[in-house]
Amino acid sequence: MGLLPQVAIAGTNGPDAADKGPRETLLLDKGWRFHDGDIAMPVLITHDQTYNAAKAGRALGAASPAYDDSDWTEVTLPHDFVSFQPIENGTNVDQGYRRRGIVWYRNHLKFSDADRGRHIELQLDGIATFATIWFNGTLVARNWSGYNSTYIDLTPYVTYGDSDNALVVRVDATAMEGWWYAGGGIYRDAWIVKRNPVHIVTDGVFAHPVKEGDEWKVPIEVTLNNSGTKDKTVQIVCTLLDAEERKISEGFIDLTVPKLGNAVGKATMPALSDPELWSIETLYLYRVLTRVTEGAGVWDEVTTTCGFRTERFDAKTGFYLNDKPLKIKGVCLHQDHAGVGCAVPEGVLDFRLRKLKELGANAIRFSHNAQNKALMDACDRHGFLVMAENRNFNASTDYLEQLEWLVRRDRNHPSVFLWSVFNEEPMQGTEQGYEMVRRMSAVVKSLDTSRPVTAAMNDGLFTALNVSDAVDVVGINYQQHQYDAFHAAHPDIPMFSSEDTSAFMTRGEYKTDAGKHIMASYDDDAAPWGETHRAAWKEISSRPFVAGTFVWTGFDYHGEPTPHTWPTNSSFFGIMDLCGFEKTAFYIHQAQWIDDRPVLGLVPHWNWQAGDKVRVMACSNLDEVELFVNGKSAGKQAVDRLNMNYWTVDYAPGFIEVRGYRGGKIAARTRNETTGKAVALRLVKDRPTLTGDGRDAMPIRVEAIDAKGRVVPDANHKVTFGGTATIIGLGNGDPNCLEAEKGDTRSLFNGLAQVIIQAPEVAGNPARLVNLVAKADGLKPTNAEIWLDAPKAATPRQPTMSPMMVLDSWFRAPDATARPDPNQRAADTDMNSWAWFRPGELFGVAKADGYSLVAANYTPFASIQKNGGRVVFTSITGTCDIYLDGQAIGRKDDPAPAALTVAIPPFSGSRRLSLVFKLKAGEPFGFAGVIRIGGPEKT
Ligand code: GAL
Repeated sequence: MGLLPQVAIAGTNGPDAADKGPRETLLLDKGWRFHDGDIAMPVLITHDQTYNAAKAGRALGAASPAYDDSDWTEVTLPHDFVSFQPIENGTNVDQGYRRRGIVWYRNHLKFSDADRGRHIELQLDGIATFATIWFNGTLVARNWSGYNSTYIDLTPYVTYGDSDNALVVRVDATAMEGWWYAGGGIYRDAWIVKRNPVHIVTDGVFAHPVKEGDEWKVPIEVTLNNSGTKDKTVQIVCTLLDAEERKISEGFIDLTVPKLGNAVGKATMPALSDPELWSIETLYLYRVLTRVTEGAGVWDEVTTTCGFRTERFDAKTGFYLNDKPLKIKGVCLHQDHAGVGCAVPEGVLDFRLRKLKELGANAIRFSHNAQNKALMDACDRHGFLVMAENRNFNASTDYLEQLEWLVRRDRNHPSVFLWSVFNEEPMQGTEQGYEMVRRMSAVVKSLDTSRPVTAAMNDGLFTALNVSDAVDVVGINYQQHQYDAFHAAHPDIPMFSSEDTSAFMTRGEYKTDAGKHIMASYDDDAAPWGETHRAAWKEISSRPFVAGTFVWTGFDYHGEPTPHTWPTNSSFFGIMDLCGFEKTAFYIHQAQWIDDRPVLGLVPHWNWQAGDKVRVMACSNLDEVELFVNGKSAGKQAVDRLNMNYWTVDYAPGFIEVRGYRGGKIAARTRNETTGKAVALRLVKDRPTLTGDGRDAMPIRVEAIDAKGRVVPDANHKVTFGGTATIIGLGNGDPNCLEAEKGDTRSLFNGLAQVIIQAPEVAGNPARLVNLVAKADGLKPTNAEIWLDAPKAATPRQPTMSPMMVLDSWFRAPDATARPDPNQRAADTDMNSWAWFRPGELFGVAKADGYSLVAANYTPFASIQKNGGRVVFTSITGTCDIYLDGQAIGRKDDPAPAALTVAIPPFSGSRRLSLVFKLKAGEPFGFAGVIRIGGPEKT
């Protein structure tokens, strides 16, 4: 079988779609087929093969539309295939010892005739790492960034109606862009966006308020594209809406967009004097609705969010948000989470941001790359300042385009307050590094002058010409001993700690055991280039000219298990572990960073051996703390918010309690009790309900508890999960754990584990419940019930179809008066009496009563050979009998044109499909539509 035939198109081009209104944004998460491993391209030998392979639409091998992917694994996006891999010694340490490699994805898209004339764009939000993308046999994009999106105009290649549009992505994830877990495959969302030919380009609205004097302005810049056949003059209407959807202000732009070209329109909305400000506490967001209109027609519209806030770095006194000083209390983050790798659902991203708020953090550095766009939106909503960081330090065209993409996509977010062009680059202290940053900074400034450009430097600060001369604000990684010297040498250059700390802790462990790769949680150990959590903050908090910190890291991440290697496969740096469970560092930073509520953390647990001497640590922001051991005071101390407070006491079963005093009165108490042995499991939901949209997800904490309901801090039971909930990932925060992160079994680590469940899609009926059952030997099982909220609206999805083989090469025997044998074939030497044809047009009318035999030979797709399938005739005219290898499999009795589907049994190897038409003189017969063989069709 050859390539899929194109359905005949009336005319040569669609209209300029003057009648097709605002865009449709359709999720493309379903219908994907996945092949783990590479598929070599066929080797070309003949001239004919070579000539044909050099043509548009003629991609070969697995990139060809006709390739048999019917037995590939069906997957749903986002899909981090690396997170499904076992943890294997001998693979890359920084990738958490997961195998990477080359993989393929294919999908079969369906576009209706009504789509003709629209601009059709494919958006792939993130693919790790090198992606090559073909559409209908034509190579349409390559993207070597594992973090940037790819936007592809598919319009010229789309076929409409019954046609299958083959989308193929080859991912080379042997490539790595960093020294941390990068995931692999199409690990973020994919979308199809259908728009009017005259439309706002993706990321084409820039509307970020700025303050000039006492007045606020909202400069607007809108980029339109016109893929139609005529130049168009349109009006752009920008409306500023407040959080209650009230219209605050409006701006208008008249713009002519040349056919097959772009045009940029600019306007400034009337000035505002007193908007609600966005800040890390107030979170007030406005929206800008941008509409492209022509008379009464609205051709496209896009809503962007924005916030009114000012920012300023002062070289002597640090950072100011809305003219108020704000010490940056930030964390560095990589994007992955336990169980799901880099394919982190929004529900889990939200959980992570809430944990960071609880920590008292006000800023995040997204090290060292662009993030999921949903996460950027969430940072606006939760109130974090974001240092957005570019991945590759490179001033060549491809890489400048990567930087440009980052700024374009994220420049409307009030949360974004710094653009970072690199992290720790060896050329940072050289003239070449300076020249590169100068160019990269110019790219940023051409798109946004409202935020400073920075770079995270760990060296080269004092050479004659270096990167610090090319940025607005200098980020220093570690090198805390250089703060004063740098400030003395450059008293007018603002600076901050772009990265510090790199201290080690294992959650729930209080004795370092190098042999077992365990790090105690007393904040004693840090990497040689770093400091403990307490020491690093001491350096920063004591210097007003250091605008703030970004602690390495907020959460543990897969890979980079410094200071250990195999079998350790995730990091020790996190303030929280890979699941977001608190380590001691969590309480330390709460004590350091939170001023508006009492903080009183207490470690360790109180399950020790009789005779143990135990070091107890309290972390507080109050005035005094007093420790009680089994009710007896072990001493009161003035709170030390930098070093924390310690006592060494003799263990005796019972409890320890710390009381925190403010103004001489008890303001908080925290107690750790000796627990009994674990008797039961408990499941703690992150939220009461999930939205039944097939995408929402939440982490559920699994605890082993004693008879009094207390979490048993050393319980390590193996837990098995069941019930109706869909589990998408498992974790326990143990960097040494070699268990799979997928499946239904996970051991507890120091009393805790985490299950991430995803909601099913509930069409219409909200009254549905899923449950998660947890069982472990020797413990009472438990069950969590999660109600599903009805989604506000069904998620619009791009229709896809299962892979279908098109039978487009048929032979027709000479008409006969007697009923022919369906197995009949032309004699080997007869090249003339049977006619070749391609279905799609009737044979005309029968000249006389009699019979017509038609036949096609084919080899079914592998899955159909195995499981059987069906033949779909989209339109047969006339009466006929249908045979497979001479066996009758179907009949059509009514001569009127109709579709017909006939089941076919499993069979390996090649087959012959034949039809015997019964002819009636003067009556039409034949196939007016395509004939396909496949499994059940899906949308
Ligand atoms: C830094 C680097 C980070 C991470 C960290 C670990 O030098 O920027 O990506 O590797 O060290 O301490």
